[in-house]
Amino acid sequence: MAQLTRTESAEGEAGRLPAPPLAIETRGLRKEYGEQVAVHDVTIAVPRGEVFGFLGPNGAGKSTTVKMLLGLAFPTAGEARILGQPLGAVGAKRRIGFLPEQFRFHEWLRGEEFLDFHGQLYGLSRAERRRRIPEVLELVGLGGRGRDRLRTYSKGMLQRAGLAQALLNDPALVFLDEPTSALDPIGRREVRDIIRALKARGMTVFLNSHLLSEVETVCDRVAIVDRGHVVRQGTLKELLQASLDVDLTLGALDDAALRRIEEYGAIVAREAGALSVRMDDIEEVPRLVDALVRAGVAVYGVTPHRRSLEDVFLGAVEGEPSEVRSTQYEVRIHPAPVGAFGLPHSPPPFVLRTAYCVLPGAQR
Ligand SMILES: Nc1ncnc2c1ncn2[C@@H]1O[C@H](COP(=O)(O)OP(=O)(O)O)[C@@H](O)[C@H]1O
Ligand SMILES: [Mg+2]
Repeated sequence: MAQLTRTESAEGEAGRLPAPPLAIETRGLRKEYGEQVAVHDVTIAVPRGEVFGFLGPNGAGKSTTVKMLLGLAFPTAGEARILGQPLGAVGAKRRIGFLPEQFRFHEWLRGEEFLDFHGQLYGLSRAERRRRIPEVLELVGLGGRGRDRLRTYSKGMLQRAGLAQALLNDPALVFLDEPTSALDPIGRREVRDIIRALKARGMTVFLNSHLLSEVETVCDRVAIVDRGHVVRQGTLKELLQASLDVDLTLGALDDAALRRIEEYGAIVAREAGALSVRMDDIEEVPRLVDALVRAGVAVYGVTPHRRSLEDVFLGAVEGEPSEVRSTQYEVRIHPAPVGAFGLPHSPPPFVLRTAYCVLPGAQR
């Protein structure tokens, strides 16, 4: 990774050289467990200061990728740099925080005892721990609850205690592996607000998630991962813009006209007199219409539709959606969410927001 050499030399010389732009850069990261290929080929770039969503179905290889980036699993192939340093470098590790996907706390500990224990694992001095623990408790909304035992915490509070643990060393980069999948809508929103607060402090956040709504609401940039491959990557804006379906209402079409249309995009739906073409660029739409008119096709209607992240996600992951694996419903009594889950038949005054996540080939 030749062009990163400059970045590496910049590390530790803050003030003399501009800050390196990337928090994470990987090339061809791969992890095999015997016959099982957990991660085939992950090449991603995560700019500093952004919230990066690593989005994919269960079993896609998200946690394994994070473990490699943290130096907890050794890659079978590929390379990566974290905060300008090679994988596993202690200097980078000191500046990283991690909230694992499945964690268990010693529930008899008080919140601040739990954090003190982890502070010692981070190698923080007693004075640093005394200063930092109230700060992180405050940051995650547990200010004043540090004296309470963890067994008295709600699920959402435990998740926030886990976040506090990940932030103890004031990291430049924090990895959050499915931080809200066990939470209700209120808990999810709280964690999202914390992620936004971390970004506002200049932290880079790497968020593993299978929840489209979560990624859509907090992430600047997304990589969609499916069966160990990164299938799409870009800013949320790019992913949503670079993809539109154009519904065309047309007169009689011959094979030559159909081939002409396919020069502009894939035909994704077709019925008598109407078809839908998937295109990358809205600027191509007038050109397509012009080509159709020149080919003698009558054009009755042209309606472009931007695709949602859900459409992009489902289009990117391989295979046909076979089963609804995860469906979230967020029910709100205006204006505040009430944390209830329900099916979409709630009568007024409920305002219902639904987010479906159909994950083909997912493993539970
Ligand atoms: N230690 C391991 N040994 C064997 N297979 C593993 C191991 N860890 C993960 N896998 C497999 O690798 C694939 C990716 O897993 P994982 O990274 O946990 O996916 P995700 O976090 O996206 O749900 C899965 O098929 C999983 O069963
Ligand atoms: Mg996982």
